[in-house]
Amino acid sequence: MPTRKVTVATLAGLKARSEKAVFVTAYDYPTATFADRAGVDMILVGDSAAMTMLGLPSTLQIGMVEMLVFIRAVTRAAQRAFVIGDLPFLSYQPSDEEAIRNAGRFVALGCDAVKCEGGARVAARVRAMVDAGIAVMGHVGLTPQSLGQLGGYRVQGKSRAAAERLAEDALALQDAGAFALLLEAVPAEAAAYIRERVDLLVYGIGAGPLVDGQLVISHDILGNFVGDIAPRFVRRYAQLGAEIERAFGEYAADVRAGRFPGPEHCYPIDAEQEAEIREARLHLAQVVEAAP
Ligand code: KIV
Repeated sequence: MPTRKVTVATLAGLKARSEKAVFVTAYDYPTATFADRAGVDMILVGDSAAMTMLGLPSTLQIGMVEMLVFIRAVTRAAQRAFVIGDLPFLSYQPSDEEAIRNAGRFVALGCDAVKCEGGARVAARVRAMVDAGIAVMGHVGLTPQSLGQLGGYRVQGKSRAAAERLAEDALALQDAGAFALLLEAVPAEAAAYIRERVDLLVYGIGAGPLVDGQLVISHDILGNFVGDIAPRFVRRYAQLGAEIERAFGEYAADVRAGRFPGPEHCYPIDAEQEAEIREARLHLAQVVEAAP
Protein backbone atom coordinates (compact mmCIF):
# COMPACT_ATOMS: atom_id res chain seq x y z
CA MET A 1 0.00 0.00 0.00
CA PRO A 2 1.48 3.43 -0.93
CA THR A 3 2.29 5.65 2.04
CA ARG A 4 2.21 8.80 -0.08
CA LYS A 5 -0.88 10.99 -0.37
CA VAL A 6 -3.56 9.37 -2.51
CA THR A 7 -4.31 11.29 -5.70
CA VAL A 8 -6.60 10.77 -8.69
CA ALA A 9 -3.64 9.01 -10.33
CA THR A 10 -3.33 6.65 -7.33
CA LEU A 11 -7.04 5.83 -7.64
CA ALA A 12 -6.72 5.25 -11.38
CA GLY A 13 -3.76 2.94 -10.64
CA LEU A 14 -5.89 0.91 -8.23
CA LYS A 15 -8.57 0.52 -10.89
CA ALA A 16 -6.02 -0.43 -13.56
CA ARG A 17 -4.75 -3.19 -11.27
CA SER A 18 -8.31 -4.26 -10.40
CA GLU A 19 -7.67 -3.34 -6.75
CA LYS A 20 -10.62 -1.99 -4.79
CA ALA A 21 -10.49 1.46 -3.24
CA VAL A 22 -11.54 1.66 0.42
CA PHE A 23 -13.81 4.62 1.03
CA VAL A 24 -15.50 5.75 4.27
CA THR A 25 -17.20 8.84 5.59
CA ALA A 26 -15.68 10.82 8.45
CA TYR A 27 -16.63 14.16 9.91
CA ASP A 28 -14.31 14.72 12.86
CA TYR A 29 -10.58 14.76 13.60
CA PRO A 30 -10.27 11.53 15.62
CA THR A 31 -12.34 9.36 13.26
CA ALA A 32 -10.54 10.70 10.20
CA THR A 33 -7.17 10.13 11.91
CA PHE A 34 -8.03 6.51 12.75
CA ALA A 35 -9.36 5.87 9.22
CA ASP A 36 -6.25 7.40 7.69
CA ARG A 37 -3.94 5.37 9.94
CA ALA A 38 -5.91 2.22 9.03
CA GLY A 39 -5.03 2.82 5.37
CA VAL A 40 -8.42 3.93 4.05
CA ASP A 41 -7.89 5.37 0.55
CA MET A 42 -10.70 7.94 0.41
CA ILE A 43 -12.67 9.89 2.99
CA LEU A 44 -15.99 11.53 2.19
CA VAL A 45 -16.98 14.38 4.47
CA GLY A 46 -20.59 13.59 3.69
CA ASP A 47 -23.64 15.74 4.18
CA SER A 48 -24.86 12.63 6.03
CA ALA A 49 -23.22 14.53 8.93
CA ALA A 50 -26.69 16.05 9.24
CA MET A 51 -27.94 12.76 10.65
CA THR A 52 -24.78 11.09 11.99
CA MET A 53 -23.32 14.13 13.78
CA LEU A 54 -26.16 16.60 14.28
CA GLY A 55 -29.18 14.34 14.79
CA LEU A 56 -31.13 16.09 12.03
CA PRO A 57 -33.83 14.20 10.09
CA SER A 58 -32.21 14.41 6.62
CA THR A 59 -29.40 15.93 4.57
CA LEU A 60 -31.70 18.78 3.52
CA GLN A 61 -31.12 20.49 6.88
CA ILE A 62 -27.34 20.91 6.70
CA GLY A 63 -25.56 23.82 5.00
CA MET A 64 -22.14 25.23 4.23
CA VAL A 65 -21.61 26.66 7.72
CA GLU A 66 -21.76 23.23 9.38
CA MET A 67 -19.99 21.43 6.54
CA LEU A 68 -17.00 23.79 6.71
CA VAL A 69 -16.41 22.84 10.35
CA PHE A 70 -16.39 19.12 9.52
CA ILE A 71 -14.23 19.68 6.43
CA ARG A 72 -11.61 21.56 8.49
CA ALA A 73 -11.37 18.74 11.03
CA VAL A 74 -11.04 15.97 8.44
CA THR A 75 -8.54 17.67 6.15
CA ARG A 76 -6.33 18.37 9.18
CA ALA A 77 -6.41 14.67 10.04
CA ALA A 78 -5.93 13.04 6.63
CA GLN A 79 -2.24 12.56 5.91
CA ARG A 80 -2.68 9.98 3.16
CA ALA A 81 -6.36 9.59 2.27
CA PHE A 82 -7.97 11.47 -0.61
CA VAL A 83 -10.57 13.78 0.94
CA ILE A 84 -13.85 14.61 -0.81
CA GLY A 85 -16.11 17.38 0.44
CA ASP A 86 -19.82 16.76 -0.09
CA LEU A 87 -21.56 19.89 -1.37
CA PRO A 88 -24.72 20.35 0.71
CA PHE A 89 -28.23 21.09 -0.54
CA LEU A 90 -28.49 24.48 -2.29
CA SER A 91 -24.72 25.08 -2.24
CA TYR A 92 -24.38 24.29 -5.97
CA GLN A 93 -27.89 24.06 -7.45
CA PRO A 94 -28.65 27.81 -7.75
CA SER A 95 -25.86 28.86 -10.15
CA ASP A 96 -22.46 28.02 -11.60
CA GLU A 97 -20.98 30.86 -9.61
CA GLU A 98 -22.28 29.56 -6.28
CA ALA A 99 -21.09 26.07 -7.15
CA ILE A 100 -17.58 27.31 -7.92
CA ARG A 101 -17.41 29.50 -4.80
CA ASN A 102 -18.63 26.80 -2.41
CA ALA A 103 -16.56 24.01 -3.98
CA GLY A 104 -13.61 26.41 -3.90
CA ARG A 105 -14.07 26.94 -0.16
CA PHE A 106 -13.80 23.17 0.39
CA VAL A 107 -10.69 22.95 -1.77
CA ALA A 108 -9.12 25.95 -0.01
CA LEU A 109 -9.55 24.04 3.27
CA GLY A 110 -7.68 21.04 1.89
CA CYS A 111 -10.26 18.88 0.08
CA ASP A 112 -8.87 16.99 -2.89
CA ALA A 113 -12.26 16.94 -4.63
CA VAL A 114 -15.92 17.72 -4.14
CA LYS A 115 -19.05 15.64 -4.69
CA CYS A 116 -22.46 16.77 -5.86
CA GLU A 117 -25.68 14.87 -6.46
CA GLY A 118 -27.48 14.43 -9.77
CA GLY A 119 -26.75 13.40 -13.33
CA ALA A 120 -27.46 15.27 -16.56
CA ARG A 121 -29.30 18.04 -14.74
CA VAL A 122 -26.17 19.08 -12.79
CA ALA A 123 -23.76 18.54 -15.69
CA ALA A 124 -23.47 22.29 -16.31
CA ARG A 125 -22.49 22.86 -12.66
CA VAL A 126 -19.95 20.04 -12.85
CA ARG A 127 -18.44 21.57 -15.99
CA ALA A 128 -18.21 24.98 -14.30
CA MET A 129 -16.41 23.55 -11.26
CA VAL A 130 -14.09 21.42 -13.40
CA ASP A 131 -13.27 24.48 -15.54
CA ALA A 132 -12.35 26.25 -12.30
CA GLY A 133 -9.79 23.51 -11.67
CA ILE A 134 -11.77 21.50 -9.14
CA ALA A 135 -11.97 17.69 -9.23
CA VAL A 136 -15.62 16.60 -9.09
CA MET A 137 -17.21 13.28 -8.20
CA GLY A 138 -20.77 12.78 -9.45
CA HIS A 139 -23.41 10.91 -7.44
CA VAL A 140 -26.39 9.13 -8.98
CA GLY A 141 -28.87 6.45 -7.95
CA LEU A 142 -30.40 7.24 -4.58
CA THR A 143 -29.64 10.94 -4.19
CA PRO A 144 -30.92 11.99 -0.73
CA GLN A 145 -31.01 15.70 -1.61
CA SER A 146 -33.86 14.85 -4.05
CA LEU A 147 -35.77 12.73 -1.54
CA GLY A 148 -39.07 14.43 -2.36
CA GLN A 149 -38.76 13.61 -6.05
CA LEU A 150 -37.60 10.04 -5.41
CA GLY A 151 -40.46 9.44 -2.97
CA GLY A 152 -38.20 8.21 -0.14
CA TYR A 153 -35.03 6.17 0.35
CA ARG A 154 -35.65 3.75 -2.52
CA VAL A 155 -33.32 1.50 -4.49
CA GLN A 156 -32.75 2.97 -7.98
CA GLY A 157 -31.98 1.34 -11.35
CA LYS A 158 -34.13 -1.73 -10.77
CA SER A 159 -35.10 -2.25 -14.41
CA ARG A 160 -33.22 -2.27 -17.72
CA ALA A 161 -34.74 1.11 -18.60
CA ALA A 162 -33.90 2.60 -15.20
CA ALA A 163 -30.32 1.32 -15.41
CA GLU A 164 -30.09 2.87 -18.88
CA ARG A 165 -31.23 6.24 -17.52
CA LEU A 166 -28.57 6.09 -14.81
CA ALA A 167 -25.95 5.21 -17.44
CA GLU A 168 -27.03 8.26 -19.48
CA ASP A 169 -26.63 10.40 -16.37
CA ALA A 170 -23.20 8.90 -15.76
CA LEU A 171 -22.18 9.70 -19.36
CA ALA A 172 -23.39 13.29 -18.96
CA LEU A 173 -21.20 13.65 -15.85
CA GLN A 174 -18.26 12.13 -17.70
CA ASP A 175 -18.74 14.58 -20.60
CA ALA A 176 -18.86 17.41 -18.06
CA GLY A 177 -15.40 16.42 -16.79
CA ALA A 178 -16.15 14.53 -13.55
CA PHE A 179 -13.30 12.21 -12.56
CA ALA A 180 -15.44 9.74 -10.64
CA LEU A 181 -18.96 8.61 -9.97
CA LEU A 182 -20.66 7.36 -6.84
CA LEU A 183 -23.58 4.96 -7.23
CA GLU A 184 -25.89 4.75 -4.24
CA ALA A 185 -28.47 2.02 -3.66
CA VAL A 186 -28.33 0.41 -7.08
CA PRO A 187 -28.59 -3.37 -7.74
CA ALA A 188 -25.20 -4.98 -8.39
CA GLU A 189 -25.94 -5.90 -12.02
CA ALA A 190 -27.12 -2.39 -12.85
CA ALA A 191 -24.03 -0.90 -11.16
CA ALA A 192 -21.78 -3.19 -13.20
CA TYR A 193 -23.59 -2.14 -16.39
CA ILE A 194 -23.16 1.57 -15.61
CA ARG A 195 -19.49 1.07 -14.74
CA GLU A 196 -18.93 -0.69 -18.07
CA ARG A 197 -20.58 2.17 -19.98
CA VAL A 198 -18.22 4.88 -18.69
CA ASP A 199 -14.50 5.58 -18.31
CA LEU A 200 -14.97 7.09 -14.87
CA LEU A 201 -13.76 5.69 -11.57
CA VAL A 202 -16.99 4.20 -10.24
CA TYR A 203 -17.55 3.70 -6.51
CA GLY A 204 -20.57 2.27 -4.79
CA ILE A 205 -22.49 2.47 -1.54
CA GLY A 206 -25.08 -0.28 -1.57
CA ALA A 207 -24.25 -0.96 -5.21
CA GLY A 208 -22.72 -4.44 -4.97
CA PRO A 209 -19.18 -5.66 -5.54
CA LEU A 210 -18.69 -4.95 -9.27
CA VAL A 211 -17.43 -1.37 -8.87
CA ASP A 212 -14.01 0.19 -8.28
CA GLY A 213 -14.36 0.64 -4.54
CA GLN A 214 -16.73 0.56 -1.59
CA LEU A 215 -18.04 3.48 0.43
CA VAL A 216 -19.69 3.06 3.83
CA ILE A 217 -20.92 5.54 6.39
CA SER A 218 -18.48 5.11 9.26
CA HIS A 219 -21.24 5.23 11.89
CA ASP A 220 -22.94 2.27 10.19
CA ILE A 221 -19.89 0.00 10.38
CA LEU A 222 -18.73 1.26 13.78
CA GLY A 223 -22.16 0.92 15.41
CA ASN A 224 -22.43 4.47 16.73
CA PHE A 225 -25.34 5.75 14.67
CA VAL A 226 -28.12 7.01 16.94
CA GLY A 227 -31.32 5.63 15.43
CA ASP A 228 -32.87 2.47 14.10
CA ILE A 229 -31.67 2.53 10.49
CA ALA A 230 -29.93 -0.72 9.51
CA PRO A 231 -29.30 -0.67 5.75
CA ARG A 232 -29.13 -4.07 4.05
CA PHE A 233 -25.70 -3.35 2.53
CA VAL A 234 -23.93 -2.67 5.83
CA ARG A 235 -21.74 -5.09 7.75
CA ARG A 236 -21.07 -4.03 11.35
CA TYR A 237 -17.44 -4.19 12.55
CA ALA A 238 -17.84 -2.66 16.02
CA GLN A 239 -20.51 -1.66 18.54
CA LEU A 240 -19.07 1.67 19.62
CA GLY A 241 -22.43 3.14 20.63
CA ALA A 242 -23.07 0.35 23.14
CA GLU A 243 -19.48 0.56 24.39
CA ILE A 244 -19.69 4.34 24.89
CA GLU A 245 -23.00 4.01 26.74
CA ARG A 246 -21.52 1.30 28.98
CA ALA A 247 -18.46 3.46 29.78
CA PHE A 248 -20.60 6.53 30.65
CA GLY A 249 -22.81 4.34 32.83
CA GLU A 250 -19.81 2.95 34.78
CA TYR A 251 -18.36 6.45 35.20
CA ALA A 252 -21.69 7.74 36.51
CA ALA A 253 -21.92 4.87 39.01
CA ASP A 254 -18.33 5.51 40.24
CA VAL A 255 -18.93 9.25 40.69
CA ARG A 256 -22.20 8.69 42.54
CA ALA A 257 -20.63 6.05 44.80
CA GLY A 258 -17.54 8.17 45.55
CA ARG A 259 -15.23 5.64 43.84
CA PHE A 260 -13.99 8.32 41.44
CA PRO A 261 -11.71 10.22 41.71
CA GLY A 262 -9.31 8.04 43.73
CA PRO A 263 -6.04 9.20 45.30
CA GLU A 264 -4.22 8.26 42.08
CA HIS A 265 -6.28 10.89 40.19
CA CYS A 266 -5.34 13.76 42.55
CA TYR A 267 -2.37 16.10 42.07
CA PRO A 268 0.25 15.50 44.79
CA ILE A 269 1.75 18.44 46.68
CA ASP A 270 4.43 18.89 49.29
CA ALA A 271 3.31 17.15 52.57
CA GLU A 272 4.05 20.28 54.64
CA GLN A 273 1.93 22.45 52.35
CA GLU A 274 -0.82 19.87 52.45
CA ALA A 275 -0.79 19.88 56.26
CA GLU A 276 -0.96 23.70 56.31
CA ILE A 277 -3.93 23.75 53.95
CA ARG A 278 -5.67 21.07 56.03
CA GLU A 279 -5.13 23.18 59.14
CA ALA A 280 -6.59 26.21 57.35
CA ARG A 281 -9.65 24.15 56.46
CA LEU A 282 -10.07 23.10 60.07
CA HIS A 283 -9.78 26.72 61.19
CA LEU A 284 -12.38 27.73 58.58
CA ALA A 285 -14.76 25.05 59.84
CA GLN A 286 -14.33 26.26 63.46
CA VAL A 287 -15.00 29.89 62.42
CA VAL A 288 -18.16 28.85 60.57
CA GLU A 289 -19.35 26.78 63.54
CA ALA A 290 -18.71 29.64 66.01
CA ALA A 291 -20.59 32.17 63.91
CA PRO A 292 -23.92 33.36 65.47
O1 KIV B 1 -23.36 12.19 2.69
C1 KIV B 1 -23.00 11.04 2.48
O2 KIV B 1 -22.45 10.34 3.34
C2 KIV B 1 -23.25 10.50 1.15
C3 KIV B 1 -23.28 9.02 1.01
C4 KIV B 1 -24.47 8.45 1.67
C5 KIV B 1 -23.23 8.63 -0.39
O3 KIV B 1 -23.47 11.23 0.25
